[in-house]
Amino acid sequence: MSIVLAMNLNSKHFLSTSQLSPDEIESIFDRARLFKEEFTKRGRFNHLVTGDGIDQKVLVAAFFEPSTRTRLSFQLAAYRIGIKATTFDNLAISSVSKGESLADTMRNIAAMGPDVLCVRYGASDELDEAISELECPVINAGSGAREHPSQALLDAFTILENRGSLDQQRVVIVGDVLHSRVANSNLTLLMQMGAEVAYCAPPEFAPKDGRWKSVQRFDDLEEALRWATVCMGLRIQKERHTSKGIGLSMAEYRERYRIGTSQLEHLQKDGLLLHPGPVIRGIEISSAVLRDPRNKILDQVSNGVFIRAALLTAMLGLEVNKQ
Ligand code: NCD
Repeated sequence: MSIVLAMNLNSKHFLSTSQLSPDEIESIFDRARLFKEEFTKRGRFNHLVTGDGIDQKVLVAAFFEPSTRTRLSFQLAAYRIGIKATTFDNLAISSVSKGESLADTMRNIAAMGPDVLCVRYGASDELDEAISELECPVINAGSGAREHPSQALLDAFTILENRGSLDQQRVVIVGDVLHSRVANSNLTLLMQMGAEVAYCAPPEFAPKDGRWKSVQRFDDLEEALRWATVCMGLRIQKERHTSKGIGLSMAEYRERYRIGTSQLEHLQKDGLLLHPGPVIRGIEISSAVLRDPRNKILDQVSNGVFIRAALLTAMLGLEVNKQ
């Protein structure tokens, strides 16, 4: 039996969670779930994926910003579905160091004929424009402070897996929401799937984007945790702050927003603690909290491979067969 994945993104690129309908989100989850079940049983799932010339297909992962989880999980996902992957991430030994622009670099990578690209970069209108014109399908692996759609998919998948549904979950996003692409992509996707989203942050980290206008802000972390079924921590995105800082010291932030044991007591017993990583211990979350059974951060990381494998099969038009 073949699971058919409906995926009509209004565009060949996957740049934002706002491109996905609930049915498409469900189909990605169906494939990811199947891959995960098969991997758990047999340690592989490439035998479920078929397509013309599959072993000749190549993913290029172009990373112009640092990454551990996203970059490696795209590569692993490619190998797991039976395609090849190569990474471009060392700008110091590339022609970028000779003065080539990132937009031209992207055009040149695409000219070599990869079958699919995934790209991570900082804010750049020039690069946005170059990507929009590429023939090859592109997956956004994190663009500035705007979007990180595959992360939101794996976050939602982890919530679904652990809480049984997304509908009516109350998800509180804690921390530097203003500079978080993860928060933006999650807001759209989670609301689309019927979850309620709120955030807990000092006014300095309140998002300005219109999408957040009617989203509830909690000032008090304990109150936010009492409200939530899912708490999603965020890293302070120092690299996106201006040189003047944000008008709040790390010590002040930590004092009021760090999730420690006494704060986590306010989250329900079967609630979830998530974080896209990297977690900076002691600033956003204490080490003790990371040992709490409600912490599913490493499940998110494992699920990232299955979600990205599902995405790659969809982008490449590969068939997935349930055996
Ligand atoms: C996030 C990112 O790069 O946007 N990490 C990730 O992809 N897992 C979050 C972060 O860097 O804080």
